[in-house]
Amino acid sequence: MNILVAGGTGYIGSHICVELIEAGHDVVVIDDFSNSRPEVLDSIEKITGTRVKFYEFNILDEEKTENVFKENQLDAVIHCAAFKAVGESVAKPIEYYENNLMTTLIMAKMMKKYQVNSIVFSSSATVYGDPKVVPLTEDCPLGETTNPYGTSKAMMERVLTDVQFANPNMSVTLLRYFNPIGAHESGLIGENPKGIPNNLMPYIMKVATGELPCLGIFGDDYDTPDGTGVRDYIHVVDLAKGHVLAIEKYQEPGVHICNLGTGRGYSVLEIVHAFEKVNHVKVNYEIKERRPGDIATCYADPTRAKEQLGWVAEKTLEDMVRDSWNFLQKKKCFYYGARQASTDLQRRMFGQEIEQKYKIKIQDFQYDTFFNRIRSGDGSKLV
Ligand code: UD1
Repeated sequence: MNILVAGGTGYIGSHICVELIEAGHDVVVIDDFSNSRPEVLDSIEKITGTRVKFYEFNILDEEKTENVFKENQLDAVIHCAAFKAVGESVAKPIEYYENNLMTTLIMAKMMKKYQVNSIVFSSSATVYGDPKVVPLTEDCPLGETTNPYGTSKAMMERVLTDVQFANPNMSVTLLRYFNPIGAHESGLIGENPKGIPNNLMPYIMKVATGELPCLGIFGDDYDTPDGTGVRDYIHVVDLAKGHVLAIEKYQEPGVHICNLGTGRGYSVLEIVHAFEKVNHVKVNYEIKERRPGDIATCYADPTRAKEQLGWVAEKTLEDMVRDSWNFLQKKKCFYYGARQASTDLQRRMFGQEIEQKYKIKIQDFQYDTFFNRIRSGDGSKLV
C-alpha cells in the first residue's frame, strides 16, 4: 500500500515509517519539524535502506496538503501530526485546538475529495479520563479530559467518527496509545524532545546524563503498591508494529477502536529502578507533590488487539529502558565528553572530534561558549 504518514519524522511517526517500510509498504511523509529534526529522514534511510518521499510543511496549509494528495496515489493515511505537550496545551489552548483539530479536518476533507478511504488515528488513553476500573477495555466510558491536549484527542476521535458515519465506505481506526517509551534498537531514532520534558522517561534520561539535577516523583501516596503512579509503558517499536497490522487488517468499513498497551502496569519507582539496574547509571530523585490532573493507575486490557489484529506487545521493560538509553547515548555522547574535558587540551581534542563527527566548525573563540552551553544542558542547537 502507499501510505501517508502525517507527522512521520516525530518520535512515534518515525518508528511507524520504519515498520511500514519493513513490511513492504511505500511511505509518504508530511512534517513541519515543529517537534522533530530533518536528520530523522537520514536515520530512517539508514535503518531501512529506503528514502521516504518527504514534504516539509504544516498540514494547516491546505493547498500544500492537497498537492500531496494530487501527486500521490494514496491508499491510506496514518495521522500522528499533533501537538502533544500537556502543560503547554493549558497555556496555549488556541494553538492546540487550531493545530490538532484543523489538521484533522483538512486531512478528512482531502481524503473525501481524493477518495482515500482508510485512516489510522493516533489517539491516547487520556480519552478515558480518570478510570473507574482497570484494566481499561475499549468499551469503558470516555472520561473528563483535564487539559486541552487530551480534549483535542477526544474531539478528533469524535470528528473522525462523524466523518465515517457520513461516508460508510470509510475505515476509521482509533488507536488509543498507553505510555510509549523506548527507541529503535539501532539507536538511530528515538525520543528527543525539545526543552524540558514533561513525560517520565525523557526526564529520567536527562537526569541520568546530568543535564537535569533531579527527577521529581509526583506523589508517593497514591493507592498503588509503592504509592507512586502506575502506567502501562509500551515499547515504541511494538506500538509501531500495531499500526502496520491495523492498516492491513482494519480495511473493512467502520469505526475500529483499539487499545495499544501491554496490559501490565509499572510504578514510577519500578521504572526508575529498572533504568538504573539495566543501564548501570544513577537517577537522583525526590518525592514531590502530586501533579494536578494525574491519576493513580492506568493500564490497558489489550485483548481486542490480540483477537482482532493478532498483536501483542513483545518487548520487555528491560528492552524499553535499555533502548531509550542507547538512543540517547548515541545522540548525546558529546555531553559526556564535554563534561569530562577539564583541561584545555582535552577540550580541544574533544572539540575536534565533534567537528569531524558532525561536520561543523567551532572557531577558537567559540570554544568557551560551546562547552559552557553543553555543560548547562543547552547543547541542543550546537550540532
Ligand atoms: C501524560 C499525559 C497524557 C498523555 C501522555 C502522553 C498528563 C497528566 N497526562 O500521561 O495526557 O497522553 O502523557 O505520553 O500529563 N512522573 C513523575 N515525574 C515526572 C514525570 C512523570 O513522577 O517528571 C510520573 C507521573 O506522575 C505519572 C508517570 O510518571 O505517574 C507517567 O507520567 P507521564 O510520562 O507524564 O505520562 P502520563 O501522565 O501517564
